[in-house]
Amino acid sequence: MNVGVLTGGGDCPGLNAVIRGVVRKAEKHYGDTVLGFHDGWRGVLDNEFTELTIEACRGILPRGGTIIGTSRIQPFMYEDGMDRVRATMEANELDAIIVIGGEGTLSAALAVFNEGVPIVGVPKTIDNDIGGTERTFGFDTAVAIATDAIDRLHTTAESHDRVMICEVMGRHVGHIATWAGIAGGATMTLIPEHPFDVEAVCASLVRRHDNNRYASVVVVAEGAKPIEGSLELPKEEIDEYGHIRLGGIGHILGREIESRTGLETRVTTLGHVQRGGTPTPFDRVLSTRFGVAAIDAVHDGKFGHMVSLNAASIKPRPLTECVAELKYVSDELYSVAEQFFA
Ligand code: F6P
Repeated sequence: MNVGVLTGGGDCPGLNAVIRGVVRKAEKHYGDTVLGFHDGWRGVLDNEFTELTIEACRGILPRGGTIIGTSRIQPFMYEDGMDRVRATMEANELDAIIVIGGEGTLSAALAVFNEGVPIVGVPKTIDNDIGGTERTFGFDTAVAIATDAIDRLHTTAESHDRVMICEVMGRHVGHIATWAGIAGGATMTLIPEHPFDVEAVCASLVRRHDNNRYASVVVVAEGAKPIEGSLELPKEEIDEYGHIRLGGIGHILGREIESRTGLETRVTTLGHVQRGGTPTPFDRVLSTRFGVAAIDAVHDGKFGHMVSLNAASIKPRPLTECVAELKYVSDELYSVAEQFFA
């Protein structure tokens, strides 16, 4: 078979490990040819690719980023997008495309599949917000980086009796914040799924500092929002792909806490550090398993499916199901985090 591979959306630790997993089994076991399209769907639209061989993938397992590049471009942004996708499929006699991406890229993949193109998806995002899979690769790495940062913030917070705010990624969901908050012993964790009351946040911090004379670390997901009417937020900026440009709630909250409580407050925004560098062993393994499972799914004709991690085994699932709804942090898990708030 001739199989295309692309990586779309924001980069994520483990992308190269998935590519390597696909290529290894495709070449060695199935005798396939694998084409790596450059910069996500852009490479398919422009018929621009590099042939990926086992030899070409040597040494990429621990490397962050993606060797074939990524972008947020999608076929349906162009009137002739689907014609260009079909032209590339024909020109290279492609039997399938493996799409490694997050919510946006996989939704586009489903739309392309619905136009008759054989597609298998692989769930990628540090945010862990794709339905149909317990884990996306990259999440474990982001949680490890955020937890290390929270550990470091604790010691400096204690030395100065300060409030430390740590803003982490998570535009629609708070998986990174909740996991890193629990792992790092956060004083409280604020996530998009649970709008926060600034007054209540301030009151519990004051109680903690007064009663226990103990410093605090507040973890806030970039998409966390105050309850309506409790705090004025600046107008949101939209990027060229229609995404709200986030990042800033930590500083807004920090100013508010300091002015309402008088507690000295400092803010750290982790930003893209969470997405860069080498994947954790868990993510290397998960990515590798996903890559292998994706090429198996191609050979099993599981088109319109996404490989997924469920109950410790990997299975293809209908993409339609997977992109229908975001997976939010469960009340049960968040309530564990709440047990340890101030
Ligand atoms: O990878 C997902 C994500 O990390 C979001 O949490 C974040 O808002 C977004 O990517 C930022 O991506 P970029 O800066 O590439 O637009």
